[in-house]
Amino acid sequence: MIKLVGIAGSLRRRSYNRGLLRAAAESLPDGVTLQAASIDDVPLYNGDIEQEQGIPASVARLKSEIEAADGLLLVTPEYNNGIPGVFKNAIDWASRPPADGVRIFTGKPVALIGASPGGFGTVLSQSGWLPVLRTLGTQLWVEQRLLVSRAGERFDQEGNLVDDGTRQQLAQFMAGFAQYVQRCLDARPK
Ligand code: FNR
Repeated sequence: MIKLVGIAGSLRRRSYNRGLLRAAAESLPDGVTLQAASIDDVPLYNGDIEQEQGIPASVARLKSEIEAADGLLLVTPEYNNGIPGVFKNAIDWASRPPADGVRIFTGKPVALIGASPGGFGTVLSQSGWLPVLRTLGTQLWVEQRLLVSRAGERFDQEGNLVDDGTRQQLAQFMAGFAQYVQRCLDARPK
């Protein structure tokens, strides 16, 4: 059984990216699970809080969910051609303290997808994640891309993905990512 965790980088109730993550969980090959991890309660990173109060409970939960998973799916919106602050903030918190960041992220298979109402489907925010994921030492899967553009036409009012073509692409993407995660697991020293 391959265990994946997914994080949607939006706090919006009817978020396209939350909807894309739900659809991904419904588009998995046999033998693969995808659990959604929440960033809703993650506070803004503040080094004083970390030093004086330690890691907040919401961050500790997020860290253990990432650590327990064989692979991580980031479902990223795009703001001003970059990574939304709330999403980057959550991953920054999860990388603290540094020793935990290394343990949680180094060698972790990661895939990126995203949805936006415009014509470019989060291409720039997905590119914005590259230096972050490299710095964290993840094993980013780059064999396929999923850029969901014109989200207003592909999701309903509740943020549910209703476009069959995108669902098919998503299923193909998730199957490819799951195979990659399995290859990474097989390559680990026994
Ligand atoms: C956006 N949006 C946006 N979309 C895009 O494709 N490229 C962009 O650069 C931006 N910039 C941007 C800045 C800010 C501050 C906001 C609030 C929004 C639109 C964005 O894709 C849209 O709000 C999505 O609905 C956000 O994703 P969720 O919340 O639906 O998952």
